[in-house]
Amino acid sequence: MSEKIQDLLNGNAQWVNNTLKHTPDFFDNLAAGQTPKFLWIGCSDSRVPATEITNALPGSIFVQRNIANMVVHTDSNLLSVVNYAVKVLKVKHIIVCGHYGCGGVQAAMSNNNYGFLDNWLMHIKDVYRLHQDELDAIENEEKRLDKYVELNIKEQVSNLAKVSFIQEEWDNGEFPHIHGWVYSLKDGLLKDLGVSKNSNEDLEEVYQYNKK
Ligand code: CO
Repeated sequence: MSEKIQDLLNGNAQWVNNTLKHTPDFFDNLAAGQTPKFLWIGCSDSRVPATEITNALPGSIFVQRNIANMVVHTDSNLLSVVNYAVKVLKVKHIIVCGHYGCGGVQAAMSNNNYGFLDNWLMHIKDVYRLHQDELDAIENEEKRLDKYVELNIKEQVSNLAKVSFIQEEWDNGEFPHIHGWVYSLKDGLLKDLGVSKNSNEDLEEVYQYNKK
């Protein structure tokens, strides 16, 4: 594991060498532009890097990460990334990827005070409130956290579907498809939660925009 700052720069030089050995025109191709087909909204957790865990190369996934892979409608950073991905890059798929053992979700489940972070964790706590009966019924704390992680991913998929400019895209075609995936730190495997959306039809009516 890299621990010194110089390790990262050395690692970079090594990576460039190895890459050029296998694919001499690798950087020439990437420098020409990006046409990723996927947008990844993941957790900032250092153990869940989008390209490594999917065996994908640089250039294939547009990425936004934050604590607990949240889609917050006042987050202009995230919304700008999503807007660019959908309107300009025309990505076909948006993946909300959470992970079991997520520290952000765990913090939100507790009654501990985390100072400034509490403002962000509030959005995750709102998910608990929406599913309180189901979550409170799970006595085992680890299992409750697992379910909370899954429900949080599902809610963030819905939060994306509520975005008006995404609904606008659906008026004109089937893309983007929004998927909810969960990653296991224990075995490295991704699981599709089966909560995909590419229409606003199963949103509560108040979130559905009129077609233009
Ligand atoms: Co996390």
